Amino acid sequence: MKKLSIIIAAAFLPFTANAAVDADAAQALMKKSDCFKCHAIDKKKDGPSYKEVAKKYKGKADAEDKLFKHVTTKPMIEIDGKKEEHKAMKSSDKAEITNAVQWILSL
Ligand code: HEC
Repeated sequence: MKKLSIIIAAAFLPFTANAAVDADAAQALMKKSDCFKCHAIDKKKDGPSYKEVAKKYKGKADAEDKLFKHVTTKPMIEIDGKKEEHKAMKSSDKAEITNAVQWILSL
């Protein structure tokens, strides 16, 4: 039995050790959540470009927390002088949302 669990642990190790961002999964979730309607990767639309956001938060320790809240709690934002709720990610999977936030911050 012990041997078996070691084999299982070894099989999963590459996944847990590799915390790389899954860019495809991030963009798929954000497409599904309409995030690209107001944001593009490198040009301003109604919202700032994701590269702009990454630049703004570069080196900030709380960046991931802040953005996670921004995309899950629907804070009020202003577009052309009109107040509205910001969109939230269409997911309740913390890992999936965190992956997308990390992708934005990696741009
Ligand atoms: C209706 C247009 C609209 C949609 C849809 C939208 N956003 Fe935004 N977003 C904005 C605007 C406008 C801002 C700037 C708000 C501000 O700075 O007060 C913003 C800001 C942001 C920021 C930066 C927050 C910060 O603290 O600087 C991130 C990250 C972000 N949006 C991600 C997303 C994601 C992810 C989605 C999809 C779930 C999304 N947005 C959907 C308009 C939109």
